[in-house]
Amino acid sequence: MTVISSPLELIQLLVGYQPAAVLRAASQLGLFDALTDQPQPASEIANQLAVDSSNLNTLLVALHQLGLISISDDGFAATPFTSSHLRGNSDLDMVIKKEAFFSEAWLELDEVVRSGRPILAPWKERLHTRSDQTKEFLYALDALARFTGPALAELPELVPGRILDVGGGLGTYSRMLAEAGSTIVLVDLPEVIDLARSHLADLPNGSIELVAADIFNEPACGIETESVDAALVSHMLHDYPRESGTELLLSVNTTIRPGGFVVVNDFASDSGPEAFGALFDLMMRVETGGAAHSLETLTEMLLASGFSNVRRSPFPDPITVLIAEKDS
Ligand SMILES: C[S@@+](CC[C@H](N)C(=O)[O-])C[C@H]1O[C@@H](n2cnc3c(N)ncnc32)[C@H](O)[C@@H]1O
Repeated sequence: MTVISSPLELIQLLVGYQPAAVLRAASQLGLFDALTDQPQPASEIANQLAVDSSNLNTLLVALHQLGLISISDDGFAATPFTSSHLRGNSDLDMVIKKEAFFSEAWLELDEVVRSGRPILAPWKERLHTRSDQTKEFLYALDALARFTGPALAELPELVPGRILDVGGGLGTYSRMLAEAGSTIVLVDLPEVIDLARSHLADLPNGSIELVAADIFNEPACGIETESVDAALVSHMLHDYPRESGTELLLSVNTTIRPGGFVVVNDFASDSGPEAFGALFDLMMRVETGGAAHSLETLTEMLLASGFSNVRRSPFPDPITVLIAEKDS
């Protein structure tokens, strides 16, 4: 842990929002779409976007200094990375949009601490009231899982086999496991299943079965009991307090054949590097009313819901993958 001991270090911490605001503005202005491989003067780009040329020039210079665009005597140009990932609605643009939305909620962190309640409405409600934002969020999660998530297909507990991906979202991990040879049952809420269906349409028929269910309202997560070899619970438990998380794991347990496995992929509140786990825990309190659980709590939740032999897979921090066996 870094101990802050100088005013300069504190000030550097305090202005950490600025690069994120630069990215957010660039995305909102459509700047990454306006930039091409060929350099253009700031005035030309400003004309195209109908914005102030002087301020745009300063934004472009900041983006250059942040390593996101190139600069030459002829003006500003996209880099290969920017062209591939930051154009409107491409994978990392979805992540910028996600963080832009959540940064507004974070500004009310003091209120979250005062009240003990999250700023955002519950996910199921937002799927209706903020359908565009929740869709962007799911696409951002897809990008995050692909770029930063664990290579779950390496786990013998998940490949080969018939695997439940509970709260599987757009099916990033389902796709990984299906491509490695498993067959998947992906369960999620109906609105999300509709999006997953088109997102996974390129996969061979029968490799992924999609089930629309509210896992808290249906026995065995809405599928047949003891019908899978293993269940993946990825980034679900942090959305709930310990009691509801254990209830979820109990329901998951009933879907697994005797001797099968559960794999939990999450971020623990005590995972590093540095403040990562603590900040992730705060994020859950701001956004969902859930909590990132400690490694010990996650283990206790698994033991309390009919699993044993809990072990952690050696993926690097902050990834926390726990594997446990269903009690026979
Ligand atoms: C944080 S996302 C995780 C997505 C994916 N598993 C991953 O690791 O990227 C949580 C997912 O759980 C789903 N979910 C939340 N509550 C649910 C419920 N009651 N029943 C079914 N799915 C639910 C959400 O729709 C969302 O897709």
